Amino acid sequence: MTPPSPSSPSPTSVELVDLEGPQRDRAIPVIRDSFTGIYRWHAKRTLRDITHVRGAEVSGELVGVSMLERLAPEVGYVYYLAVLSAVRGHGIGAQLLDDALERFARDGITVVYAAAEVDNVPSRKLFASRGFREIERSEPSYREGGLGAWGLRSRMRVVPGEVLLGRRLTASATDNTEAARSVEDPHRG
Ligand SMILES: CC(C)(COP(=O)(O)OP(=O)(O)OC[C@H]1O[C@@H](n2cnc3c(N)ncnc32)[C@H](O)[C@@H]1OP(=O)(O)O)[C@@H](O)C(=O)NCCC(=O)NCCS
Repeated sequence: MTPPSPSSPSPTSVELVDLEGPQRDRAIPVIRDSFTGIYRWHAKRTLRDITHVRGAEVSGELVGVSMLERLAPEVGYVYYLAVLSAVRGHGIGAQLLDDALERFARDGITVVYAAAEVDNVPSRKLFASRGFREIERSEPSYREGGLGAWGLRSRMRVVPGEVLLGRRLTASATDNTEAARSVEDPHRG
């Protein structure tokens, strides 16, 4: 199927679905289009092994994917989030991330992490637009009021050249107001 043209879709025409078992193979074209090298290999492997995979459909075609894991009772991790290049910039990545945050909040998760390559501007902007900020190694753990997560690092895919991003979930998982962000960030005013 031909991907929708970049002038479509409006975010409202996107449907988010669970991808289970063999249906997950539908996400492979999105992965091929979005990643190269070791990332592509790892994303395909993660697609099969991970607990939750969500897909974004437009007119029945899979155009985006998120891969989500619960690392600890209160900790969620976004392993991969990708959108077909032909339909980027239309809010689909943001819808997938909002959906992930809502799902995590429903499951009682209070802290969410993700990794981003330092120079991946779209990815960093996407996570920043949803209240994520860079986590420094020196930060106290999330249990002590910071968002440090070094005890969980072995289960996260954070390699050299990447930064760890994180945010706390407030009562409203998608509360992206300036106030919500400044409350969770000890480095801000
Ligand atoms: C990162 C990615 C998923 C974003 O998907 P998308 O559907 O284009 O993103 P959206 O249109 O929903 O944009 C979400 C936010 O990110 C910002 N953003 C997205 N692409 C951007 C770009 N190229 N430059 C600057 N900002 C960008 C938008 O401005 C928007 O912020 P706003 O809501 O404050 O306006 C997509 O670029 C992608 O698949 N990249 C390749 C795979 C990848 O690197 N994934 C991330 C790491 S796993």
